[in-house]
Amino acid sequence: MKKSALITGILGQDGPYLAKFLLEKGYKVYGLVRRYSNPNFDNLDYLGITGQVEYVEGDLTDESSLYNVIKNLRSEEIYNLAAQSFVGHSWEMAKLTTEVNALGVLYLLNSIKTFAPTTRFYQASTSEMFGLGHTNGYQDEGTPFHPRSPYGISKLYAYWMTVNFRESYNLFTSNGILFNHESPIRSLQFVTRKITDGVARIKAGLTKKLALGNLEARRDWGFAGDYVEGIYLMLQQEKPDDYVLGTGENHSVKEFVEAAFAAAGIAKWQDYIVIDPRFKRPAEVPSLKANPKKAKDKLGWEPKASFKELVKMMIEADLKRYGVS
Ligand code: NAP
Ligand code: GDD
Repeated sequence: MKKSALITGILGQDGPYLAKFLLEKGYKVYGLVRRYSNPNFDNLDYLGITGQVEYVEGDLTDESSLYNVIKNLRSEEIYNLAAQSFVGHSWEMAKLTTEVNALGVLYLLNSIKTFAPTTRFYQASTSEMFGLGHTNGYQDEGTPFHPRSPYGISKLYAYWMTVNFRESYNLFTSNGILFNHESPIRSLQFVTRKITDGVARIKAGLTKKLALGNLEARRDWGFAGDYVEGIYLMLQQEKPDDYVLGTGENHSVKEFVEAAFAAAGIAKWQDYIVIDPRFKRPAEVPSLKANPKKAKDKLGWEPKASFKELVKMMIEADLKRYGVS
């Protein structure tokens, strides 16, 4: 019998990479899709797996839809990747962000407890929960949380609910506390893809400027394709637990800009960047840098792609999209 897994957030960035990874392992993969007139399968198409996933309808804000899906499927594993995941929008849409990212997880956990108590559950937690918190400049599983955005706060609720269902009901529920991970199918609103898309548009002669916010923020950027293996490994352990995944290295937005223009063969990036206060945040997370030692020791997980390789991969994909190289 094939093992089965339900992935929420299947149409996003991580969903398709995880689905591909699980399909290659022989899983039957179900993907939760919201009710849409025109769902967008571009990211699954990009990885060539659209037809290999079975889609089920549901919404994280609709408890009964989740009850039905979980009751009907009773899959061995559930990976909850669905979220209002854009930090920048979470101030304007704090209620929606909370309903999806916090309450949605409570609904999932309640459904699992009621209908599928042997199902293993992965919660997509985030380094945004650390915010200002750090341990000697790094963040690990023991670092205190100090979230700086409604997004980070909503994810902290979900993190603790995931821990609480494990402790209260003995369910297999694990948090992956993932640092930023990117790819050629990263949504355009996130800074890395905004930059690589912008640089490709400049190279193609479609625009002359790229508007950004805070260039000094530092992030620990890895490749999404590497991180889904760590996610999978968390649910294969004997016991549920929480793990940080990251590279252990960080770079500023400015360094990403420099690297992206250089990878596209454009000199003097300063000629193209304009600072637009609209892209600055009411409260910023200045620096995130993982200490992924626990994941390495316990899961045997390590990221493969370097910062330079990540930038190159994203730039090449965007140049190709615009027909330039
Ligand atoms: P993403 O590209 O934004 O994908 C999120 C997905 O969630 C989208 O496909 C979206 O569906 C779906 N979704 C949103 N609201 C929903 C709802 N009410 N019901 C059902 N589905 C809903 O995010 P990602 O980068 O793949 O990240 C995956 C998860 O990891 C997210 O939970 C994110 O917060 C977390 N995370 C990401 C990173 C990172 O650097 N990428 C780091 C740490 C944690 P539509 O396509 O229909 O809009
Ligand atoms: N999006 C965006 N757009 N960010 C900008 C811009 C801009 O024009 N200019 C500067 N930045 C800065 C942001 O202020 C932030 O400090 C940094 O670039 C990264 O922003 P994002 O790419 O939007 O990602 P994020 O770090 O806020 O959140 C991502 O990573 C989290 C994990 O740490 C998302 O994927 C979250 O869902 C995830 O949890």
